[in-house]
Amino acid sequence: MRKTFLLITCAAAFLLTAAQVKPKPVPKKVMDNGKKVYDTYCLPCHQQDGSGVPNMTPTLIKTTWVTGDKTKLVQVILKGLKGVEVDGETYENVMAPHDYLTDQEIADVTTFIRNSFGNKASMLTPAEVKAIRAKTK
Ligand code: HEC
Repeated sequence: MRKTFLLITCAAAFLLTAAQVKPKPVPKKVMDNGKKVYDTYCLPCHQQDGSGVPNMTPTLIKTTWVTGDKTKLVQVILKGLKGVEVDGETYENVMAPHDYLTDQEIADVTTFIRNSFGNKASMLTPAEVKAIRAKTK
């Protein structure tokens, strides 16, 4: 009895560790919905492949904004941005606020850009976006 318990504990610990090492793949539904939001609201400026437009719109490929801190990323979408340096290039254009997007849409589009264009970063949930929105003025 004791042995079985030990075995189960070991197996559980092993599975937990394995799960941590390998992040869960993003569900297709989230990626599909995120792409829809991207195509509608972001693509005209940031382009189909996320590469942006030289001297106008910065790239979304492997930038700290995209793959780094979730709060900063969500706040760029909620509040927009003006005057930023990305990959050593300065941009003076304005990205308008997109605070009319729902928590679900923002979660899906941020998850989409964090896992497209060669990027690989953790996904965002609507609950996380809601919490960030609540503390963003
Ligand atoms: C009207 C054009 C426009 C639209 C639409 C737009 N952006 Fe931007 N975006 C910009 C510009 C311009 C900047 C840089 C702003 C600056 O110069 O300070 C930027 C900056 C960013 C950044 C930070 C810098 C970087 O490249 O990592 C992120 C992330 C971003 N946008 C994501 C998005 C997402 C996601 C959407 C759709 C929900 C979106 N943008 C819609 C023009 C746009």
